[in-house]
Amino acid sequence: MLKIENASKVFAKGTPNAHTALNKINLTLAKGDFVTILGSNGAGKSTLFNAVCGNFILDEGRIILDGRDMTFMSEHRRARSIGRLFQDPMKGTAPNLTIEENLALSYSRGHHKYFGPAVGKKERQLFRERLASFDMGLEDRMQTKMGLLSGGQRQVVTLLMSTIVLPKLLLLDEHTAALDPATAEKVMNITEKIVRDNNLTTLMITHNMSSAMITGNRTIMLDSGEIILDISKEEREKMTVDDLLKKYSEKKQKQFDNDRMLLG
Ligand SMILES: Nc1ncnc2c1ncn2[C@@H]1O[C@H](COP(=O)(O)OP(=O)(O)OP(=O)(O)O)[C@@H](O)[C@H]1O
Ligand SMILES: [Mg+2]
Repeated sequence: MLKIENASKVFAKGTPNAHTALNKINLTLAKGDFVTILGSNGAGKSTLFNAVCGNFILDEGRIILDGRDMTFMSEHRRARSIGRLFQDPMKGTAPNLTIEENLALSYSRGHHKYFGPAVGKKERQLFRERLASFDMGLEDRMQTKMGLLSGGQRQVVTLLMSTIVLPKLLLLDEHTAALDPATAEKVMNITEKIVRDNNLTTLMITHNMSSAMITGNRTIMLDSGEIILDISKEEREKMTVDDLLKKYSEKKQKQFDNDRMLLG
């Protein structure tokens, strides 16, 4: 479904500040794969997502999604087939529009005809059912403005906005990092349900090592723009977080820089 071939990117190329953010990344995901991504600050995790979304053009390499070469496609066109969530729950939503208006915007965009935030009877029923399935009471708050919701509620609505028309690829960039632990767990459970129910191909960046090791079906670790570990589900099941850190140290001949990582 997703094939990243030999992807490389140097920022500020040819200057003293030149920085290799992606260094010959190769990554292939089959349909329905759910891969978690670990790596310390500045490892290149968000940059990898930016490359996939077309935020910049690669210096080298190719990105193929569902058989289509997207390497030189505009960000706008790629957005039609990619859903993306960020750490900041306000990103990607209109705070002054209601939940149902936000959902209607995402829904109409996906159907290639713009009927704006107006909400028809059929759509309202669909949104209500989908929201109710998350068991957060959001189906009774569809006329509430997005800006008034808690961070966790907003992330759940944003998840639904990103998947109400199914994307070919879902990218989650630390989307639970700004939430308290109980809310983060709830949003993770809903994420897993949405991914499973729709067999979505998903990449999820997280700084929570133990969560990364039990979520989805594979874990990769980025370091200085390279994929240095790629661990299958079977391999992962036999590993602890300590084993993972040991593997890192063996590979890099140094300790893992765990300033922001949750090891527990
Ligand atoms: N547009 C850009 N121009 C110049 N440098 C950039 C740009 N985008 C990213 N970088 C640099 O590339 C490196 C990787 O950044 P990136 O945001 O991908 O890290 P990350 O792995 O997501 O880290 P974090 O865990 O802190 O979010 C960093 O050194 C960053 O400063
Ligand atoms: Mg990042």
